[in-house]
Amino acid sequence: MSQTLGHASLETTPPDGSLELDERSLAVVLDGRVRRFHYVWLRDNSWAPEDRVRQSGERKLFTASIPPGIAPTAASWDSERGLEVLWNDGQPATYSPAWLRRYDYSPAARAARRPTVALWPENADEPPRFPHTEVVGSTEGQLAYLDAVRETGAAVVTGVPSEHHEVERFARTLGHVREVAFERVHNVRHDPAGYNVAHTPGELKPHTDMPSYDWPPSIQLLHFLTNQATGGESTLVDGWAALAELRRDAPGHFDTLTRVPVPFQLFSADEDTWAENPMIQLGAEGEVRLFRFSNQLAQPLSAPYEQVEAFYDAYRHLGQIIDSGRYRATFTAADGDLLTVHAHRVLHGRLPYDPASGARHLQDVYMEFDDLMARRRVLRGEHEPLPAQSQEDA
Ligand SMILES: [Fe+2]
Repeated sequence: MSQTLGHASLETTPPDGSLELDERSLAVVLDGRVRRFHYVWLRDNSWAPEDRVRQSGERKLFTASIPPGIAPTAASWDSERGLEVLWNDGQPATYSPAWLRRYDYSPAARAARRPTVALWPENADEPPRFPHTEVVGSTEGQLAYLDAVRETGAAVVTGVPSEHHEVERFARTLGHVREVAFERVHNVRHDPAGYNVAHTPGELKPHTDMPSYDWPPSIQLLHFLTNQATGGESTLVDGWAALAELRRDAPGHFDTLTRVPVPFQLFSADEDTWAENPMIQLGAEGEVRLFRFSNQLAQPLSAPYEQVEAFYDAYRHLGQIIDSGRYRATFTAADGDLLTVHAHRVLHGRLPYDPASGARHLQDVYMEFDDLMARRRVLRGEHEPLPAQSQEDA
């Protein structure tokens, strides 16, 4: 090959199908872009019948059996079938253009696959609203709602019938209820004997629920069967936006809250939940994945002596951001509104209300964000495996 595919020195990209083999990887031009794949990765992802269950996409090849020196003995490009390789362990395999596009792991392709997260501005609006009939009655309606939960972390479904346990029926149209201690469907109304401050008429500062689990529920659905009392406006805060401000202005405080474990507990007469974790948990690329914030459920810190004041300095800073009104939406929910929050991200609370002024009754259930995103992929038809090679090539 006269023209090298190597690195940024390219003046003009060679035509599609240009192929260059290096010691441990190859480069192929597809759609005018140079895409690089390691041999061990290609061999591992072979769709040859010996290596893969076609119907399910499950791998038969035992990855650990691939030798470190795996490499092609021959490789070529066919414009229809794609990349054809004969591996030096004797296995032939084909990788179609569509498959290479989908699984390309170059920085640009990986960035394009990352979910869009729209952090709330300092003067946030209330969450987008979707009619119940459309969310449960049409694919487009449900997808629009799921997109909003994915991107903004909150959505309101309107016109949900004010029926007992309707919130659970709604949850089943999306996936599965996440059961936790206490009731499967939680009732939130004035109850002097209730097990948490939600049952009082006082202000509830924005918080996340169940930080007392190692894995708190990641979706919360709150259904307002009736909301006729004076006061009690709902407050939502984009916790990830608050954390972005903390990280920008005080990276040391942010770092402290990713490291110091905080115990949280919620209990009743015959149930108990308790877990100890840092308030901020990060993903593999340093992004915030799980935020837990519950001033009312935090238990005495049990940290090394020299970390205690650093924790309080960081917590004070974060608490002031969350209490500042920035990244907060305040609104009055109507009868039949059903609020969804991505509960590892968005904090919920309410202003005080007067229980003598009218009825206020919510029912809520938890779900898992994973299941909502699974539902979204199914509705979009993204869950079926894409074979790398056709049966004729097998
Ligand atoms: Fe709550």
